Amino acid sequence: MRKITVVGAGRVGESTAQILAKEEFCREIMLIDVREGAAQGTALDVQECAPLFRFDTIVRGSDDSAAMRDSDLIIVTAGLPRKPGMSRSDVLDANVAVIDGIVDDALKYAPDAMLLLVTNPVDVLTYHAWKRSGWPRHRVFGQAGVLDAARMAAFVAMETGFSAKDITAMVLGGHGDLMVPMTRYTCVNGIPIANFLGKEAIQRIVERTRQGGAEILALKKNSSAYDAPAAAVAAMVDAIRSDRKRILPCVSILDGEYGEKNVAMGVPAVLGAGGLEKVVDLTLNDEEQAWFRQSVAQIRADISKLV
Ligand code: LAC
Repeated sequence: MRKITVVGAGRVGESTAQILAKEEFCREIMLIDVREGAAQGTALDVQECAPLFRFDTIVRGSDDSAAMRDSDLIIVTAGLPRKPGMSRSDVLDANVAVIDGIVDDALKYAPDAMLLLVTNPVDVLTYHAWKRSGWPRHRVFGQAGVLDAARMAAFVAMETGFSAKDITAMVLGGHGDLMVPMTRYTCVNGIPIANFLGKEAIQRIVERTRQGGAEILALKKNSSAYDAPAAAVAAMVDAIRSDRKRILPCVSILDGEYGEKNVAMGVPAVLGAGGLEKVVDLTLNDEEQAWFRQSVAQIRADISKLV
């Protein structure tokens, strides 16, 4: 990948740029922010890490959206973050306007790019960006499930004491309180967690995963999480730029999979050079199905508020 633009030089944008630059996932990173000087200052700070971390990625910043010209990938982190006590849907109205502007800029300056949405509420905004862009779904998708699954895996590591390296977790559904942590697909080196944890402990992990973002926001008060969100974005970028064909939970536009159409939801998908190359359609059991439907209903309710 040659050029990646990160729109929004807030905390998630900055951490993302930092990881992408350090890992040399592309030749050039362009940070864009409407606040004058914010992106330039952040870019300079990241660029000055180059001799220390030994990377030669070029990191630039701009407050002019034309700077995204010819990007291969545009990562959207711009928007209003939620405050303690707010749900992700509470920032919908403010952030739709932000996304509209970014999609229009992308159509103008980087019509062949992929769009990776991070701004909340991410499911609804991914759907909205897809509609507005008119691009095929393999080029418009969002980050949520990689973060939610990482949180779940981290909680399993904390509960069991086993190495986080051996734990894989899966979370489906919307990035909200009704997300669907898939406990039967959550394993320690292939062994389902039910072999190590009782029902109560597993339920505790499920609840903590659903509240993962809120837990951090309640503790920090003036900031949402950004380290793990940025690491999650970086994992998706790596899968795409190295054409890894990783199966990762992504906010995907559904086209009949899981019995749904015209909605964006977190489901496992194959990520490779073509972007979101394929949605993996799983058969859910009754309980998972019930959660999934509730989560879809919540997202559809927000989508119906969009004009
Ligand atoms: C979180 C917010 C950023 O999950 O959605 O931390």
